[in-house]
Amino acid sequence: MKKLMGMLAMAGAVALVLTGCAAGDAGSASGGGADGSPIKVGFSQVGAESGWRSANTASLKDALSDANGFKMTFSDAQQKQENQIAAIRSFITQGVGAIVFAPVVETGWDDVLKEAKDANIPVILQDRAVDSDPSLYTTRVGDDFEKEGETAGKYVADTFNGKKANLVVLEGTTGSSAANDRTTGFNKAIAGTDINVLDSLTGNFTRAEGKTVMEGFLQKYGKTINVLFAQNDDMGLGALDAIKAAGLTPGKDIQIVTIDATKDGLTALSTGEFNYVVECNPLLGDKVADVVKKVVAGESVDKLYVADDQAFDQAQATVALPTRKY
Ligand code: AHR
Repeated sequence: MKKLMGMLAMAGAVALVLTGCAAGDAGSASGGGADGSPIKVGFSQVGAESGWRSANTASLKDALSDANGFKMTFSDAQQKQENQIAAIRSFITQGVGAIVFAPVVETGWDDVLKEAKDANIPVILQDRAVDSDPSLYTTRVGDDFEKEGETAGKYVADTFNGKKANLVVLEGTTGSSAANDRTTGFNKAIAGTDINVLDSLTGNFTRAEGKTVMEGFLQKYGKTINVLFAQNDDMGLGALDAIKAAGLTPGKDIQIVTIDATKDGLTALSTGEFNYVVECNPLLGDKVADVVKKVVAGESVDKLYVADDQAFDQAQATVALPTRKY
């Protein structure tokens, strides 16, 4: 089984499972796509907060390239919702054929999504979700964050079953669906166990904040902490510095469970500093490009495409690393 998991991880392919069904919305006439002309796409990205995000941006840029029949305009929101709303409004004014965006937070999108709908421009969510009515966007291509959190929580519940566990949590960006759903899944998995949650604070998905928040946890709780759940690799990697500076050994004195499975995360796992890593596949570009082409051509698409994620222990990380794509 372990061998099979390793082989699957090495393949690094995004197997996307189809869920639900929705009719595609044809793009606006000036947005390209007719008679082989390039499709104009506006892409609003969250920012550059993590290794996962860099891999996701690269995947989208590769897939929505000129060579593949697109004219893509990229906008980095620097983790700010107001920047994303401004970018989407600018894409509407430009008359793009489709808008692709990774919503930094889950709420507050209704007005701008209605504006895109009124302009007959299809919106494709990639990565995170929104809480708006599904009629306001065409589809979402992303990962199952709740399942990721649940898988991480199951590891902690199984590992500390019957033992004393004092847990701290580094949460992702407050209000993001990635953080919300990972928290829900994790809490579901540890419900009814003796795991004692000492504290849970946001580290905003960055290494710098992961380090600072972990320093605070260590000052407050000292050596009583014996397990850390970091909702992404970067915060876990930042926490490593804080743990070492406190004279503790990561992976031994404090078990560390993270989500993403970037090369840096799997390296920390392989060398024993992390204990378990759940994958969140960022290579969503090809599926997004495929969906955009279909929608602009007026073909129907599903309402949700979910990437197939793995989980890694230390031995599986060592097997996967040489061919890891991100
Ligand atoms: O939305 C996906 C999350 O966003 C990734 O887990 C994290 O690394 C990124 O910042």
